[in-house]
Amino acid sequence: MPDLLAQLESLAEGARRAVEAARDERALEDLRVRTLGKKGELSAVLRGMGQLPPEERPKVGEVANRVRDEVETLLARGQERIARERLEADLQGPPIDVTLPGRRLLPRGHRHPVSRAMEDITSIFVRLGYEVAAGPEIEHDWFNFEALNIPPDHPARDMQDTFYVDDAGLRGGGKGGVLLRTHTSPIQIRAMKRAGRPPVRVVAPGRVYRSDYDQTHSPMFHQVEGFAVDQGITFADLRGTLAAFARAFFGPETRTRFRPSYFPFVEPGAEVDVSCSICGGTGQKEGRRCGACKGTGWLEVLGAGMVHPKVLENVGFEPGKVTGFAFGMGVERMAMLRHGIDDLRLFFDNDLRFLEQF
Ligand code: FA5
Repeated sequence: MPDLLAQLESLAEGARRAVEAARDERALEDLRVRTLGKKGELSAVLRGMGQLPPEERPKVGEVANRVRDEVETLLARGQERIARERLEADLQGPPIDVTLPGRRLLPRGHRHPVSRAMEDITSIFVRLGYEVAAGPEIEHDWFNFEALNIPPDHPARDMQDTFYVDDAGLRGGGKGGVLLRTHTSPIQIRAMKRAGRPPVRVVAPGRVYRSDYDQTHSPMFHQVEGFAVDQGITFADLRGTLAAFARAFFGPETRTRFRPSYFPFVEPGAEVDVSCSICGGTGQKEGRRCGACKGTGWLEVLGAGMVHPKVLENVGFEPGKVTGFAFGMGVERMAMLRHGIDDLRLFFDNDLRFLEQF
């Protein structure tokens, strides 16, 4: 027995020295396998116990357990010491140069073509002196329709069939309804009320919703609204502003034309076309009819007009004293025209083969 006890003692002593000498985790792991592993020194001692007379075994067993505990504690402390030493060495070593260029070229992502179109449109108007505004996507019936001169029974509501959160607006004579906004025009109302008095010059990008779904219509899409209200603003200002915008967005050769149209919140109202950027307005591309403008040379891009006196009244402005213009465009449509895309749903499929082209 003294022999086994002496072996255990020397095993413990050896472990103490080895832990002290260890400089890394690897050395500690080797030590653990050598002493505590299945084929290690401690197991060898325990196997030798079989030779002992039964009354001596408990004593050796007890010492063996103590030695195992001690070695485990030593290993744990050794690990802590090594981690601490490494941290200190790192802290004292030369600093990491975060300005070094990366070694591996990772593919870079880019903005979605709809986001880019929306940002480009917005920034053109910011350069023209417009302020950016936003409004809630869940909107009151009053802001989305009524204040814009669209009462509950107005047929224009059918053109913007929407998702109602609470259809009290339909049932209860226009009061209290809540819906997903169908256009960005309610931001006109909010911005004018917030300003309190003219001048107001605002560009308002945002998501809008309609109960639509086909090649050129999606249930969620984006619009950018713009409007300017002040003393003496005329239709000529609207024309000049939109012509400047079209040239900035589609290119310096772009021409614009206005066709009479109807929106309840403007009078007079117009649809605005730009000369087709694909065929240069000729209607012909490579000897054939241009597919983008269907041979007309023109593309419809937005609705616009002079702010209706009723709308000015609804926000507390004096229709006799101030005038203004407003316009609203579909961002997906602008991005489709810009890139020659014929199906709007591609924007929302998240197919990388499509998105990586832009
Ligand atoms: C409006 O929404 C008016 N608020 C625009 C306006 C503002 C007129 C200020 C006058 C003054 P309209 O319903 O035509 O108008 O929609 C504007 C544009 O949104 C359309 O030209 C089209 O490009 C786009 N659009 C409409 N519905 C969808 C849809 N479901 N999916 C994608 N784009 C759509």
